[in-house]
Amino acid sequence: MLRSLIAGIGMYVPEKVITNQQLTQYMDTSDEWIQERTGIKERRYADRTKETTTTMGVEASKIAIERAGITPNDIDFIIFATLSPDYYFPGCGVLLQRAMQMKEIGALDVRNQCSGFIYALSIADQFIKTGMYKNILVVGSEKHSFGLDMSTRGRHVSVIFGDGAGAVVLQPTEVDNRGILSTHLHSDGADAEALAMYNPGTHANHWKEGLADFDESVIADMFVSKEMVSKEQFYPFMDGQAVFKKAVVKFPEVIMEALNKNNSAPADLKLLVPHQANLRISQFVQKKLRLRDDQVYNNIQRYGNTTAASIPIALCEAWQEGKVEKGDLVCLAAFGSGFTWASALLKW
Ligand code: ACO
Repeated sequence: MLRSLIAGIGMYVPEKVITNQQLTQYMDTSDEWIQERTGIKERRYADRTKETTTTMGVEASKIAIERAGITPNDIDFIIFATLSPDYYFPGCGVLLQRAMQMKEIGALDVRNQCSGFIYALSIADQFIKTGMYKNILVVGSEKHSFGLDMSTRGRHVSVIFGDGAGAVVLQPTEVDNRGILSTHLHSDGADAEALAMYNPGTHANHWKEGLADFDESVIADMFVSKEMVSKEQFYPFMDGQAVFKKAVVKFPEVIMEALNKNNSAPADLKLLVPHQANLRISQFVQKKLRLRDDQVYNNIQRYGNTTAASIPIALCEAWQEGKVEKGDLVCLAAFGSGFTWASALLKW
């Protein structure tokens, strides 16, 4: 039976470090508030004009491809997960295909926000298991810094997010009990508006009233209106407490689903790599599953929440630090906007 193996992994974060203290230039916040609520000390912001979501994805991909011992020409499918694409359309996958001068292979963009990387990995896994592709590039990348409300109004959202990218190359293996053992994907759209960027969009206020603090007939009329721009109604919205409450239930649930499916228990895990949503969420999950500190990898302190990029960045660092070795049982888990949540259990 074919299984998908991570044959190469890479990451890229922009050079520019933004500390919590630096954010106080723009908004009324403090290092103490941010660290206490989120664990974040600093994050990276992309160069305003030289770096895009795709270019960061390219940098991470170059490393993953080299570590897999292949060339861009060997890649036969691209899956690109992001919520901050270079263009509204087309997606980043084709831009990466062009930038890396790859063959005329398929390129798929995945829009599942914080769960995007695991959704992308799961799709890639199916293609590998059926024998359709042999080298799939899975990328998660975000340039959040371009779309954040840096005023005090947006502080509870903006302090959380950072920029960066991670990538893996998946290849088939016939070695028993190695590679991706199972993936588990879920969604519940009941709270779709709890963590979302509504505008610009085609929603025309169809789903929910009160998505803008001005005459809604204006926003309903046009994809982009002058009022939307002048009132700055184009930033992400987050009901932080609703997200927190749901995340601390769904993270453990989807991790246990993966472990149960493979007759394993939390104690068997070498490493849990959770989506880096918020250090307090990770700590809650760790406690609930009774995992030791060395069984959970966190790097949100240095990068903030990089959404679709957070898992491949964390997994890459864990691997570089020797925390993941051949044969280790590793669980990836995510929860985010949608809400969507997902897990993947793998034998490294
Ligand atoms: N600096 C200083 N004060 C702030 C800031 C800030 N950056 N942001 C909000 N505050 C203030 C508020 O104005 C409020 O003040 P008030 O009491 O005078 O009205 C006070 O702090 C508390 O605000 P809350 O929004 O109630 O803060 P809360 O304790 O809920 O913490 C947080 C906010 C950190 C976002 C929390 O709800 C949380 O962690 N939620 C989970 C969301 C999350 O992790 N999202 C990540 C992205 S989604 C994902 O990846 C799954």
